[in-house]
Amino acid sequence: MSIESHKPTSIISGVGSYVPSQVVDNVTLSKKVDTSDEWIRSRTGIKQRRFATEKEATSDLAFIASQNALSDAGKKPNDIDLVIVATITPDMAFPSTACLIQHRLGIPKVACFDIEAACSGFLYALDIADGMLSSGRFKCALVVGAEKLSSIMDWEDRTTCVLFGDGAGAAVLTNSGEGPQLIGFKSGADGSNPTLLHQPAGGSLEPASMKSLDARGHFLKMNGREIFKSAVRVMSTAARELLSENGFSVDDVDHIIPHQANARIVESLSQRLAIPLDKFFCNLDKYGNTSAASIPIAFDEATKASIFKQGQLGLFVAFGAGLTWSAVLVRF
Ligand code: ACO
Repeated sequence: MSIESHKPTSIISGVGSYVPSQVVDNVTLSKKVDTSDEWIRSRTGIKQRRFATEKEATSDLAFIASQNALSDAGKKPNDIDLVIVATITPDMAFPSTACLIQHRLGIPKVACFDIEAACSGFLYALDIADGMLSSGRFKCALVVGAEKLSSIMDWEDRTTCVLFGDGAGAAVLTNSGEGPQLIGFKSGADGSNPTLLHQPAGGSLEPASMKSLDARGHFLKMNGREIFKSAVRVMSTAARELLSENGFSVDDVDHIIPHQANARIVESLSQRLAIPLDKFFCNLDKYGNTSAASIPIAFDEATKASIFKQGQLGLFVAFGAGLTWSAVLVRF
């Protein structure tokens, strides 16, 4: 029996984002951490980032980004029948951040859940939502990437704390209507080396204890050099495979929105894919790495700046802890 492979069909009806108002530039950061504006700019391209206040949680950022996406899509909370939030910094382990924003947004009692694929999370969530919409059982999904990374950053580890920021982005997906169409997905993972990028404590392996606190185990730990090399390799492979599976070459791509982690990673990706740097949309200089929020925030900014023209081909590509990766093709 042959099984016909699923073709994506979803339309992005609207997009929105939100970043907290507190701007922290590199000079300000270097008063708190043994670093410099020159080091951070030259190694990462980051100039500033946004941090939420102590009282703001991931759901607060996700809530505003979702309101903006609903308004952009011309949809009411009642229209939504599926909510997926991608995050590694949920308000709490459970209930899910998706359930928290469902209630605040006034969305009916529909399916709501979080997914965790680190910086690839938003693209994984688009892939999942598209599959659920294509089943015919769902009509309109709210897909969110939201993070308060400042809540898991170790201010005593200068190799990581200069890299991240807080924010949220959201998209409304429908199975009919106007807007950019999702036309292909390629998601994958390699779990063979989980400690390259992880938050060791706070789960069932190492629950919170005085020992875990003393070891600073509730903060993000990363082997930056290894992640850098893997990031370029997995994103370029996923992008090439996705393009070829859909009958495209790298020359067909008009715009790329990569995960906003590091300008040098983006430059290496551009070289490896042989796609000119001016086709890459980057705003990491303003926000740093916001993990699952990075692509929807960039997509929202690029959309509002009218960068995409109807009929053009777009490619989103991300990597993250796991390691995970994901690439998505969009016809604008
Ligand atoms: N300020 C000043 N000096 C620093 C800092 C800092 N903030 N951080 C490290 N250094 C020093 C190091 O101590 C080292 O000094 P030494 O040579 O005297 O020992 C020197 O700078 C070089 O350190 P490296 O770690 O080798 O620097 P590198 O050029 O590799 O850059 C970086 C580090 C920016 C982290 C890079 O490896 C990188 O971007 N990696 C990818 C990280 C990433 O994208 N992570 C996101 C993952 S997505 C997710 O799922 C959350």
